[in-house]
Amino acid sequence: MLEIKNLSKSFNAGTCNEIKIFSDFNLVIKEECTGILGTNGCGKSTLFNIISGVVMPEKGDIILNGKCINKFKENDRAKYIGRVFQNPSMGVSPSLTILENISLADKKCQRFTFKNLIRKNKVGEYKELLKALDLGLENKLNTKVKFLSGGQRQSLSLLMAAMNKPELLLLDEHTAALDPKTSRLIMEKTQELIKTRSITTMMISHNVKDAIKYSDRIVMIDGGKVILDVKSKDITEKELTGIYNSRNYGSPIAEAV
Ligand SMILES: Nc1ncnc2c1ncn2[C@@H]1O[C@H](COP(=O)(O)OP(=O)(O)OP(=O)(O)O)[C@@H](O)[C@H]1O
Ligand SMILES: [Mg+2]
Repeated sequence: MLEIKNLSKSFNAGTCNEIKIFSDFNLVIKEECTGILGTNGCGKSTLFNIISGVVMPEKGDIILNGKCINKFKENDRAKYIGRVFQNPSMGVSPSLTILENISLADKKCQRFTFKNLIRKNKVGEYKELLKALDLGLENKLNTKVKFLSGGQRQSLSLLMAAMNKPELLLLDEHTAALDPKTSRLIMEKTQELIKTRSITTMMISHNVKDAIKYSDRIVMIDGGKVILDVKSKDITEKELTGIYNSRNYGSPIAEAV
């Protein structure tokens, strides 16, 4: 369970460019998959950056499964939090092979030298994980990731983010750069991973249909507040699109309140 308590965050505070993103923002996430929606610029990625320790808030507590992680640095939080980005190159190391990438993810937050990165006795296990993606990546262990397609990279990135069963998985528009067929495939794999491993997940998406289909709960943020919080089964695509379209684009607090 993730608890966000009394969170406040502004950028460029004290200047004429100040933007207030959150002011006393509260959210509790218990479900396996919560879809996070909101117009461009409302602060969704900033929220993920705050949870991951990339961006520091002025105020507020981030509590993950009962432990307050406010003081944990980004690296320490990475032990508990997996993240997949919109850009398929961000969650992987393109100049390393598939095997090296998976080995890195497996050793996340452990001390190791590059020489002892790959453990031969783990290769069979990695192949099984890759096989489950149905993309034939288990036969390309020594291929550099830069030679993979966006969809293949994103599948690998997802697998790496989820492989050691993080306490929280953050998906930031992770299918937005993919074609419709690949996007569907990745969404199916995402759901399978989340459900089989019971990982608490927050999934940012602008795709209303996917958000309803693949999330258990929908949270919409606007003007630094939660403006909608419903079970996915209790809202239709049409209703959700209507609420979405009624919001102003890029509406941080100052404009929305
Ligand atoms: N490091 C930063 N410094 C200054 N402003 C920032 C920084 N990061 C984000 N912002 C601003 O904060 C606002 C929210 O950005 P954010 O990326 O969180 O939006 P978003 O909801 O993820 O939007 P999108 O749907 O387009 O991805 C934007 O106005 C953005 O320009
Ligand atoms: Mg974003």
